[in-house]
Amino acid sequence: MKKINSETTLKNPSPILLDAQIIKTLLPAHPLPIQLDVLSEIDSTNDYFKSNIITPDAIHFCLAEQQTAGRGRLGRDWFSPFGTNIYLSCLWSFSKDVSALSGLSLAVGIAVIKALNELTPNPDIKIKWPNDILYQQQKLAGILIEVNTVDSGNTQAIIGIGLNVNMSDQNTETINQPWTSLQHIIGNEVDRNKIAALLIHNLLCELSKFSKQGLKPFLTQWQQYDALLNQQINLLHGKQNITGVVLGINPQGYLLLEHNDGSTAAYSSGDSTLCKP
Ligand code: BTN
Repeated sequence: MKKINSETTLKNPSPILLDAQIIKTLLPAHPLPIQLDVLSEIDSTNDYFKSNIITPDAIHFCLAEQQTAGRGRLGRDWFSPFGTNIYLSCLWSFSKDVSALSGLSLAVGIAVIKALNELTPNPDIKIKWPNDILYQQQKLAGILIEVNTVDSGNTQAIIGIGLNVNMSDQNTETINQPWTSLQHIIGNEVDRNKIAALLIHNLLCELSKFSKQGLKPFLTQWQQYDALLNQQINLLHGKQNITGVVLGINPQGYLLLEHNDGSTAAYSSGDSTLCKP
């Protein structure tokens, strides 16, 4: 792990760096105490919480300018160049069994959408179940949640968010899916300290809500942001490839599909892709 210094990128020789003090001054008052660590370089901000002593009684966040081994869902890499995007992780303790966290990734997706809407309201920013944030079918942000059981009834979640902020087309050949960035959407460079504060604020609000009430208060909002509703999709579920029309989600956050033979089923996990029209 490196301390903040004056590293450079090819694209932007002197990006405005993330600054914990600035981010804290941009945060609205919140009843929960927070600790925010800003690092220059780390393998993965999610792994930071696996190898560091955590302050008790505070919600702990970690941001990095660069990840050398950023990880995505399903064993994929997450491209994490210096001084360009947001790589944010949060350690959150739940007084719940792991079985009660099935909808957590959806609640986090809604928190990310709300943060983005505060910066730039845009009806084309949607969530592809379970938690890809898309703009016009291009990936804008991804969420990786790793859960540990502390004991029966207590669970810790490491919630990692990667958001493409000021990434341009330079040196992005290794990204193997359609992607976009806030800069592409808005047309200007975006203040990363501001969007970091918006993400942290919305995570604090929505995770507090999820801790108390579970997924229930999020179910109606989900419909508004659902990128797949009424669409024909392929779902890679384990080794099975399933085709069907998306009916929405059930109260646990499972994906509801109507198969081509008219039967329906709910899926707890998988990787969804829209079928071409
Ligand atoms: C995905 O869509 O596949 C999830 C991507 C998650 C990337 C973030 S960046 C911050 C945190 N640290 C990681 O190594 N991964 C997550």
